[in-house]
Amino acid sequence: MSNTQSNFGLPLVDAARGDVVGRQREIELVVAALGSARHILLEGPPGTGKSTLLRAVAKHAGTELIFVEGNAELTPARLAGHFDPAQVLAQGYTPDVFIDGPLVHALRTGGLLYVEEINRVPEETLNLLVTVMSEREITVPRLGRIEADPGFRLIAAMNPFDAVGTARIAGAIYDRVNRLSVDYQSEADELAIVLREAGDSPLAERAVRCVRATREHNDIRIGSSVRGAIDLTLLAQQLAELRRIAAPDDRCGLDAAYAALSGRIRLQESCGRTAEDVVKEIWRASDPAASGDEDQSGKA
Ligand SMILES: Nc1ncnc2c1ncn2[C@@H]1O[C@H](COP(=O)(O)OP(=O)(O)OP(=O)(O)O)[C@@H](O)[C@H]1O
Ligand SMILES: [Mg+2]
Repeated sequence: MSNTQSNFGLPLVDAARGDVVGRQREIELVVAALGSARHILLEGPPGTGKSTLLRAVAKHAGTELIFVEGNAELTPARLAGHFDPAQVLAQGYTPDVFIDGPLVHALRTGGLLYVEEINRVPEETLNLLVTVMSEREITVPRLGRIEADPGFRLIAAMNPFDAVGTARIAGAIYDRVNRLSVDYQSEADELAIVLREAGDSPLAERAVRCVRATREHNDIRIGSSVRGAIDLTLLAQQLAELRRIAAPDDRCGLDAAYAALSGRIRLQESCGRTAEDVVKEIWRASDPAASGDEDQSGKA
């Protein structure tokens, strides 16, 4: 195929791996799909590295990654672009008063259009994307036909927890993309990510254990991503400095855990507990010295 591009090959996989912890298979699949001029849907919980992976692939492919946040306000005009009303009054509807939206920009320049939270995008706008995916061109009223540069690809992302309250995306989209499910990282990869983002810290392992525990806890509907472990580790280190102690202690860790995790977890509505209470339980249980003992330290 003429639009299969040779810069989507093994050297790209190897280069992208340098910027991403683990995820070799996912990188290979993304590169394979882009190399075959196919579109992609990444489906996975928040913080699982979807954006990180795409940023790395785009950077090393020398392609622009054009971010679009999917939400109810993403109208076709916002996605494609619009005529500047003031200039239209002076000049009329001429092509140079058209302000390219992210879609037209990606089509013209052969960039990767990355639509996050695609399941929040209104139907009308999704229809525009369906057209682009099948025809590789769009027609904008008063502007005319815009053909996709051969480099253009659509990459969509969505979060499975979001399926409640938002419409599932249409079958027409699913039939035009290759779906890659991206699940939580392994414990070893999460630790490597935290060490990379927060520096070497004595609390990094414990922070990772805590966020992993939030995903298994009976009172929690949605647990924390690795972002919670990164923040817990960073906050505890800063607290230790502010409190003039050499290394973060249990108290710094607990305070950091409250701040880093209580807003990130979603409790089961029926559990009748506060987020702080659940975070404290998880923090205590993650102490390697506690070895499964219940909260023996009493009230903090
Ligand atoms: N595999 C990874 N390699 C390196 N860093 C990672 C990896 N996974 C996650 N991270 C780090 O975790 C954080 C969240 O990752 P990222 O933003 O890529 O997740 P996401 O899947 O795009 O999340 P969302 O669905 O919320 O947009 C970032 O700080 C990122 O650096
Ligand atoms: Mg993201």
